[in-house]
Amino acid sequence: MNDIDANVSKWSIASRLFHWISAVLLLVTWLMMLLYQNLNDNLYIGLHKAFGISLLCWMIARVINRVFTKVPPALPMPKWQLLMSKLSHFALYALLIAMPLAGLLMSVYGGRRVDIFGLFQIPVFVTPDRGLARYYNDLHVDIIWPMIIAFTVLHVGAALYHQFVKKDNLIARIK
Ligand code: HEM
Ligand code: HEM
Repeated sequence: MNDIDANVSKWSIASRLFHWISAVLLLVTWLMMLLYQNLNDNLYIGLHKAFGISLLCWMIARVINRVFTKVPPALPMPKWQLLMSKLSHFALYALLIAMPLAGLLMSVYGGRRVDIFGLFQIPVFVTPDRGLARYYNDLHVDIIWPMIIAFTVLHVGAALYHQFVKKDNLIARIK
């Protein structure tokens, strides 16, 4: 243990739960899409949508939690790294909200209700419009998704850099 380990200041339990459950929901939403693409069973596109909407709700609650909880002080690092971490965290929040919203708008502009695990349905609350459905489809698939991949790779890469190169035990703050 070095002296940074000894006084590691953690994220609150709520922030840690929000972080890891968001990551799991993202993974499951993506896995449902992979299953749908490989097995072509409509069950999985339905689950993709329901898990995606669950992530949207989770992220809204997470933002509220973020506003009201105390954040641990940043570890010592160069200014540019601190700025990059702030920007990329903000981008991840924005993308994880924009992605399911685009999916939802794609569906309803396409005239499709969204079934949430058979419990209830989100009705078609807009006037269906093929052009807008296509627009949100492109946004979902071609713009936001590649950005989520890029920022997640950057994020996990940075976490691994802290763990194995800087050895400053950053990951312990969110565990
Ligand atoms: C954060 C949540 C979400 C993530 C990460 C996500 C991710 C993806 C990915 C990776 C694809 C496939 C892209 C490709 O073809 O390579 C996709 C397609 C799709 N998603 Fe989502 N999605 C999310 C939420 C939603 C929601 C909430 C809905 C609808 C309510 C939705 C509806 C769809 C539909 C209908 C497609 C098929 C589009 C097509 O094949 O052209 N998604 N999504
Ligand atoms: C193996 C996977 C992951 C690891 C090791 C990891 C690690 C971390 C660490 C160490 C922090 C805290 C940084 C600090 O204390 O300054 C953090 C924060 C954060 N992580 Fe991750 N993370 C992972 C996956 C993800 C994924 C998949 C996402 C979303 C796509 C994500 C989004 C975020 C966000 C938005 C924050 C900022 C939290 C805030 O400011 O409220 N993480 N992550």
